[in-house]
Amino acid sequence: MSKVLIATEKPFAAPAVAGIRQILTDAGFDVVALEKYTSKAELLAAVADVEAIIIRSDIIDKEVFDAAKQLKIVVRAGAGYDNVDLEAATAHGVCVMNTPGQNANAVAELVFALLLFSVRNRFNGASGTELKDKKLGLLAYGNTGRNVARIAKGIGMEIFAFDPYTPADVMVKEGVTPVSSQKELFSTCDVVSLHIPATPETKGSIGRELVSLLPKKAILVNTARKEIINEAELLELLKEREDLRYLSDIRPANHEEMEAALGERYFSTPKKMGAQTAEANTNAGLAAARQIVGFIKEGNERFRLNK
Ligand code: 3PG
Repeated sequence: MSKVLIATEKPFAAPAVAGIRQILTDAGFDVVALEKYTSKAELLAAVADVEAIIIRSDIIDKEVFDAAKQLKIVVRAGAGYDNVDLEAATAHGVCVMNTPGQNANAVAELVFALLLFSVRNRFNGASGTELKDKKLGLLAYGNTGRNVARIAKGIGMEIFAFDPYTPADVMVKEGVTPVSSQKELFSTCDVVSLHIPATPETKGSIGRELVSLLPKKAILVNTARKEIINEAELLELLKEREDLRYLSDIRPANHEEMEAALGERYFSTPKKMGAQTAEANTNAGLAAARQIVGFIKEGNERFRLNK
């Protein structure tokens, strides 16, 4: 019987796991789960005899592909796939997919959880500020950016976006003002929310040059990837610009320094929480299970990343 592994260092909610198991067992697959594992050796042992793997931010590198002799497909239950070595996958003849959009609303809601927590002074009783009428800038208008825009409209924010891959008329139709550069976005907006993937082009791209353009009392929100930030530059700049805040769903490598130097102008969740809802786990997990069934049984390659 074909075996599918759910390998999640950060587990899905229980109903999502039950739903994934149901879809796969109904289709005749054997399902095993490796959750909260603490060593790579556990992962290497678990992949040895499986045909498919469902992962989240779990690292699937050449060593894992080398150890997974029966592997046909890896599905990243989520959007970002910088944790999977696509070249190694292709060299091993393994298909890699993601499940775009399935967890986007959860991440978008967390953007506002971080923002409201911060502008209301962590609920310490002191008068804070409101988001209504503030200018929100979205760096990338993909699935998550769009969901952030939808919620921001309800709050009454004015929304701007920079995304060279989304036609301007699509944004305009959705009440979003397109801007022509990252610099314009940063110099225009009171809140900039990052939604770009970590790629060789974007890594370290958010640093002094862009962040220094932010208007007075602006807030930078990062629910994307820590790799896109030049953390050393950001810390130095935020020490100089005492009016700015940084809120992150991904703990920076220099977290202790940020916390010590910036106090309440800085906050990071202890563990990446954006997609950590039962709904997002279920949407992404079930989509991953269905994609595995479709690929192995019918050769369906929709959402394949390594063409
Ligand atoms: C994604 O890329 O889908 C999000 O960052 C969520 O990642 P996670 O599954 O590790 O929570």
